Amino acid sequence: MTEQEWQIASLPDISEPGAIEFRVGDKDWPFRGIVVRWQGEVYAYANVCAHQGHPLNLDANQFFTPEQTLLICASHGAVFEPDTGHCVGGPCAGASLRALKCRVEGDAIFVNAPASQRATHFF
Ligand code: FES
Repeated sequence: MTEQEWQIASLPDISEPGAIEFRVGDKDWPFRGIVVRWQGEVYAYANVCAHQGHPLNLDANQFFTPEQTLLICASHGAVFEPDTGHCVGGPCAGASLRALKCRVEGDAIFVNAPASQRATHFF
């Protein structure tokens, strides 16, 4: 499925470090992603764990470890570097989150993503 650019959030919507989830497109099966602010940069990933494909979070916008140094999957505890999406611990160590292209214009954060989770294949 082709990707398109979506305006997701504004910089002040996300603490630093911090992350928010977003859903875009298809009403029945929207594409789910996250936007991360980390050390002055903005990153975006599909909200799909590299282990079993679960969303990383169970609670709204809870993506960081208590130390605020890594992203963590609530299902089985895989941890990921915020700036690369690389899994550095847990059941899928060595794998990576799917990175999404993103850019900031003024305060607005734009992310390239498909319009549906339906036609995306991660594994
Ligand atoms: S689905 Fe994320 S660690 Fe298992």
